Amino acid sequence: MSGTGTIAGALVRWQRMHGRHDLPWQASRDPYRVWLSEVMLQQTQVATVIAYYRRFLDRFPDVASLAAAPLDDVLALWSGLGYYSRARHLHRCAQVVVAEHGGRFPASAEALARLPGIGRSTAAAIAVFCFGERAAILDGNVKRVLARVLGDASDLASAASERALWRRAEALLPPRDVDVYTQGLMDLGATVCLARRPRCDACPLARPCVARAEGRPQAYPVKSRRLRRGRRRHALLWLEHAGRWWLVQRPARGVWAALWSLPEYDSADALKALVAAWPGRGEWLPEIEHALTHFDWTLQPLHWRLPDRLSAARLAAVVAALPAGRWFTPADAGSAGLPAPVRRLLAPG
Ligand code: ADE
Repeated sequence: MSGTGTIAGALVRWQRMHGRHDLPWQASRDPYRVWLSEVMLQQTQVATVIAYYRRFLDRFPDVASLAAAPLDDVLALWSGLGYYSRARHLHRCAQVVVAEHGGRFPASAEALARLPGIGRSTAAAIAVFCFGERAAILDGNVKRVLARVLGDASDLASAASERALWRRAEALLPPRDVDVYTQGLMDLGATVCLARRPRCDACPLARPCVARAEGRPQAYPVKSRRLRRGRRRHALLWLEHAGRWWLVQRPARGVWAALWSLPEYDSADALKALVAAWPGRGEWLPEIEHALTHFDWTLQPLHWRLPDRLSAARLAAVVAALPAGRWFTPADAGSAGLPAPVRRLLAPG
């Protein structure tokens, strides 16, 4: 008996006994639902995803309704989940499925991986769960699980090592029950083989696990390329007039792309200079710290209230100095796609 059989068999048995069986998307083999859940789960934990998943399906029950929706509506429903490029790809992917595949997701991992926003691992997960394909997944959690079990100390920052791990992941696939095995890998990574404090005592793979035998599970996976995080600072203008707020749509590329947000300035001084001659009064609010993938962002919000009664000419002069945007009532802002920190600023509590 090869080690492969031991690992897959133990994982399948464990998933049936101890894995997760009642996640909303597990009730379905509809590729639309499975795809949506997998994209949401790419960078967000199950506990957060569930409510978003339900709301999203209520509004967009199928791929056609999603494809037909304005991007703004999709971003609004995504608001708070972060990593908004996922939502833009999701929308684009729905349109491609409708326009090029007659509204049906293609039924193989290989074809799925050619759609926007569907990487190799997500394509495999959809193909396994919906079409029973024998395909390997290898997301961040699974890389950690496999590197530990196999004692694979190669540097996963290198493309060659990653390719080799894909081959090993494929070699581990059981001949059947690939869906249970795949869910088992996901469940193990999310609940037992944790990045910081792995619960080896609860692990069905403790016996074959090389990292555990070495007594150093946290040493895996090995990644040499450290993310060099930067730091940025900007000022935000929260401009209020007659109960409405001036919001601008961010550029289609970059941080918070295409979301509605507050006008952003290079520095608090630049913003101070802008508002110096404006009527009304302002208040600097507590700084917001926001961590993004590549940098930590400090935002300094200035809440400036213009007097309600303001001549049309003075109001027009203020607006002329603002980046293109429009006035939002708080209710409109609440249903627009706002970045989560901005939403919290505008509607605390
Ligand atoms: N993480 C990624 N995909 C998942 C799934 N289908 N179930 C639970 N966690 C996941």
